[in-house]
Amino acid sequence: MRTILAFDPKAIHAGNRGLAIDHDAVAARVDELLAAMTREEKVAEIHGLQAQPIDDLYVAGGCERLGIPTYRMVDGPRGARAGRATAFPVAIARAATFDVELERRVGLAVGLEVAAKGGNVVLAPTINLLRHPCWGRAQETYSEDPVHMGAMAVAFVSGAQNHVLASPKHFALNNVENTRFEMSANVDARTLHEVYLPHFRRCVVEAGAASIMTAYNKMNGVFCGENETLIEAILRQRWGFKGFVESDWFLGTRSTGAALRAGLDIEMPAPFRRSAEKLTAELESGEFSEGDIERAARNAVYQKIAWDLANLPVPDAAVVECEAHVALAREAAEKSLVLLKNEGDILPLAPEARIAVVGDLATMANLGDRGSSMVTSTSVVKPLDGIRARLGAEQIDHFASDADLSGLGSYDAVVVITGLTYREEGEFIPTEQLEAPDGLARGGDRADMKLPEAELALLARVAEHAKNTVVVLEGGSAVDVSDWIDNVHGLVMAWYPGREGGHAIASLLFGDICPSGRLPVSFPRSMRQLMDWDITALDVRHDLLHGYRWLEAHDESPRFPFGFGLSYTQFQLGNLELVSGGKDSLALSVEVSNTGERRGATVVQLYVSAERSAVTRVPKELKHFARAELEPGETARVRFELDAELLAYFDEASDDFVVEACDYLFQAGFDAGNLPLSTRLRFDGDSFEPVP
Ligand code: BGC
Repeated sequence: MRTILAFDPKAIHAGNRGLAIDHDAVAARVDELLAAMTREEKVAEIHGLQAQPIDDLYVAGGCERLGIPTYRMVDGPRGARAGRATAFPVAIARAATFDVELERRVGLAVGLEVAAKGGNVVLAPTINLLRHPCWGRAQETYSEDPVHMGAMAVAFVSGAQNHVLASPKHFALNNVENTRFEMSANVDARTLHEVYLPHFRRCVVEAGAASIMTAYNKMNGVFCGENETLIEAILRQRWGFKGFVESDWFLGTRSTGAALRAGLDIEMPAPFRRSAEKLTAELESGEFSEGDIERAARNAVYQKIAWDLANLPVPDAAVVECEAHVALAREAAEKSLVLLKNEGDILPLAPEARIAVVGDLATMANLGDRGSSMVTSTSVVKPLDGIRARLGAEQIDHFASDADLSGLGSYDAVVVITGLTYREEGEFIPTEQLEAPDGLARGGDRADMKLPEAELALLARVAEHAKNTVVVLEGGSAVDVSDWIDNVHGLVMAWYPGREGGHAIASLLFGDICPSGRLPVSFPRSMRQLMDWDITALDVRHDLLHGYRWLEAHDESPRFPFGFGLSYTQFQLGNLELVSGGKDSLALSVEVSNTGERRGATVVQLYVSAERSAVTRVPKELKHFARAELEPGETARVRFELDAELLAYFDEASDDFVVEACDYLFQAGFDAGNLPLSTRLRFDGDSFEPVP
């Protein structure tokens, strides 16, 4: 029987240049360099050059005299934001693949395109936990779960760092958009370390992320860009981070001395707070010391030496949007589609069917928001293009939203393309216009989870006439489907599927691929099932509960649980067992079989509940997962290897993680609401043993 290792660190981290650094040698070289630099040269290292990018790249530091190269930074999370580039599906879509190996390849491709554009730092991935599905930047991040987020994030970082430095962002707790420049995320140390930081930690400790970008917002009343607890105590001291910390743009550096003291190394994109005058004035008034400049400059040049940045290869421009990257964008889109409803097996549709495609989004290049992660591709396959390319134009009629729909009843199937766009959600850009002249759009948080009125009206009109309706839903996060779900037979969550999205959607609708995406965010029945959500809030309390943790703790059953997704084939699990359980690590295995008729992939998920714990625990948490691709009739063994620390809680008294001697219920299954297998293990402080 084949064994599938859930997360293979060797394969994921292969080629990551951030993990092949001789730190002693670098430190010695940096000492020499610092000794040779003038004060002006040091100051030049600790801020960006100017507000506007040069050839699409934000420039920071650099010293010709000493041969110190500049950082040339570019976004971001769904591809290189420079001229034309491959627009991949947004991060939350890629997260729905639960495919870490695929995410590594996306990271590789994005890193390569960034390098080909002349960049050497990619401002990605965005890894702020999706605390509430209405966060405007939900699409940019991976998950409501820290373990899932961490796995996807390190895969991207390690892939990208084959070519350029990665900059996970925004450190930390940036998960409200409209008030992001002012709001304070208030959090206790336990919640911070257990829920909001583990994925950042993995990027630093495991993937050697070269840089970290701070968040705009405050944590516990202190701006993240001048937050000593976050930057100095946690990132540098606790995690041993050796890279540079740069601020978020424009309003990301809120002070001169305080930010320097706290350890913010580089102000981006320009010296608003670090102008010569401000530095002189605050130095004189004792707000900071020369040593703070020295330290920031040292951190700023460290990775330039570590990466030998002056000699970083610049790949041929032909790699941008090359065939392989376009194929990868399609593969990611195909694997990201989540089949949420398939009543009477309406899907896949017969390729000879006569199809009506309804909705304006069918003909829109709906790639996501128009904030900093926007990517422009040379061409985009829209849903209608993809369906036409698959079936031929004769079998298909398109109905725009203002068309007469009374004839829909005569079609074999009606496919409605609906959802959200950059008009409803996205990074909040402080502009009065909905669409700014530079192509950006205001974006922001959603106030609620319903579709826009016009889309709801369209779905209601379709329901009056159509017999067999399949909805393809676009958007960056959970949507409240309650008004129309009972009127449709099929539902596919398509996210913002990137430049090849139309082909991917057609492949799923007509059965060329077997759906394998799974939800990285719970879909509640309505907003009422979740915590209060106020897009004007300036103080937001963060605790251990959100997403599936919240739903379970409050006895709420969601519409579609975290991790959920249907398939065209069936899977079964068996034999969940402990393989080994030492003091520091344990391994479990489970068998997964494809009991259906066609090849397909599923995601095996492992959740843990601590029992008889001395502290309050959340009901259960995802601790590991594996995507398994199986032939019909095939059974494979999935092997989960876990550090025991993954089971720990953060103990504020000792300021550390504690792996408690208690019982742990391990449950395996296909989503947070469907966990058919379980085994109980007892940890006595030395080893894990099955509880008889
Ligand atoms: C965003 C960052 C982005 C930066 C540069 C900021 O407004 O929050 O995510 O990297 O702009 O474009």
